[in-house]
Amino acid sequence: MYRVFLETYGCQMNVADSEVMAGVLERAGMALTDRPELADAVLLNTCAIREHAELRVLGRLGEFARLKKQNSKLIVGVAGCMAQHLRKRLLDERSRVLDLVVGPDGYRHLPELLRRAAGEPVAEIRLDRDETYGDLEPKRGDGVRAWITAQRGCDKFCTYCVVPYTRGRERSLPLDELIGQVRNAVAAGYKEVVYLGQTVNSYHDGRHDFTDLLRATDAVEGLLRVRFTSPHPTDMTPNVIEAIATCDAVCPQVHLPLQSASNGILEAMNRTYTLEGYREVVAALRGGIPDLALSTDIIVGFPGETEDDYARTIAYMTETRFDSAFLFKYSARPDTRAHRWPETVSEEEKGRRLQQLIDLQQGISAEKNEAWIGREVEVLVEETTKRGEHQLYGRTPQFKAIVFPNDGTPCGTLRQVRVVGATSNTLLGEPVGQAAQPAPALVQIA
Ligand code: 5AD
Ligand code: SF4
Repeated sequence: MYRVFLETYGCQMNVADSEVMAGVLERAGMALTDRPELADAVLLNTCAIREHAELRVLGRLGEFARLKKQNSKLIVGVAGCMAQHLRKRLLDERSRVLDLVVGPDGYRHLPELLRRAAGEPVAEIRLDRDETYGDLEPKRGDGVRAWITAQRGCDKFCTYCVVPYTRGRERSLPLDELIGQVRNAVAAGYKEVVYLGQTVNSYHDGRHDFTDLLRATDAVEGLLRVRFTSPHPTDMTPNVIEAIATCDAVCPQVHLPLQSASNGILEAMNRTYTLEGYREVVAALRGGIPDLALSTDIIVGFPGETEDDYARTIAYMTETRFDSAFLFKYSARPDTRAHRWPETVSEEEKGRRLQQLIDLQQGISAEKNEAWIGREVEVLVEETTKRGEHQLYGRTPQFKAIVFPNDGTPCGTLRQVRVVGATSNTLLGEPVGQAAQPAPALVQIA
C-alpha cells in the first residue's frame, strides 16, 4: 500500500486543508503514516506568512533530502502557501530534492499528482477561484472540536500580507454544504465546530451571509458550541454582533486582529478602519455579549512605524485589555506591496518592541484570568492532561484553558467547574456538585 507522511505547518486553515488531503488520499486507497522513513511520499503542508515559517520548512526539507539519498524512490512534496515560492526551485535546482509542488487549490488531484511525480517533477500551483473542497469529506483529527473551512482566500490585500497571493481570491462555501459538514461532524461525535476563513465574517455564498450561517449552525441538534476565526473589524456589523449574542451555541469569544493602533500605520497597512472605528466595534461587542473574551493580532516594526505609532499601540492595549494577543515582528514578504518599502525599524528595535508588548500582555492576561477566580464556568471536557489521568483539561465558553481534578466526567461532555486559581494562560478549577451520569448505552433488542 502507498504510504504518505503528511506534516502540517502554520495556521488552522492549513490543519483543515491537511484533513482534506488526508481524506482524498485515503479514498484513493493510500495510507497515512507517521514514520517518514517508511513512507513512499513525504508531503509538507507549508506556511508563508512570515519568513521564520518558511525557514523552518526549508530546514525540514534538508532532512528529507538526506532521507532521499537513502531511498531514491522517495517522493518529496510541498503543499500549501509556499508552493508559489518553491516552484522555481523545483524546476531550477540541479541537485533536486523536490518532486512535487502543489498549491492550496490542487489537493483534489493529489493521488494522481503523486503518481506522476514518480516520473517527472510536477508543479500544480494554479489558483482556482471556484475550488472550495465543499464536497470532499475531510479525515478529521481526534478530539471534541471540528475545524470547518467556511471561506477560502482573501480579497483584502493588507499591504504586509502574502495570503491573497498564496491562496487567491475570496470564496465562500455554500451554506447547505457547511451545515451538512456540521451534521456529519456531530454524527461522528464532535461537540464543537470552528468556522475558518481569512475574513470569516465577510462570508457570503451568494444567498446567505455570515449571520445566516451562524443562525443555521445554532439550530443543528447535538452541537454544543460554535466558534469562528478570524473576523475582520470592517465586516463586524451590528447584525453579526447580534447573531453572536443571541445564538445559544455561539461562544462569547472573538479574535479580532487589530495589527496597529496608529491610524497612519493602519492606513499604510490598508486595513480599511481607523482606531476609532475599531474601538466602536469593541464597544458594541462588549456591550452586546456578556463576558466576552476578546483577543487580537498585532504587528510591530511595520515600515514607517515610529516611536509615536508604537506608543499608541501600547496605550490602546493598556486601555482595551485584550484577554490574549498574538504578537509578531513585521516580516517583509515577496509579492506584497510593503515588500517594496524600505524597512525603517531595525531587527533589534523590533525585538525590543515585541518583548515590551509580550510583557505588557502577559500581565493583562494574568489579571484577566484572575478575575475569573470564584466564578462558576461551564467546561467542555476535552481530555486528561498530559501530566496524568488524575486531571481533566477543557475549555470555557471564552476559550480559556482550564484544568481540574478528574471526577470521571466523560470527555466531550459539559461540566460545571468553580475557578480556584489562574495563570496568564490557564485557569485551575474544582468541579461543582455531582458529575452528570453518562447516558446509558443503548441496548439493542433483537
Ligand atoms: N509579518 C508579520 N506578521 C504578519 N501577519 C500577517 N502577515 C505578516 C507579516 N508579513 C500576522 C497578522 C495576521 C496574522 C495571522 O499574522 O497579524 O493577523
Ligand atoms: Fe492577510 Fe489582511 Fe487578508 Fe488577513 S485580511 S489574510 S491579514 S490580507
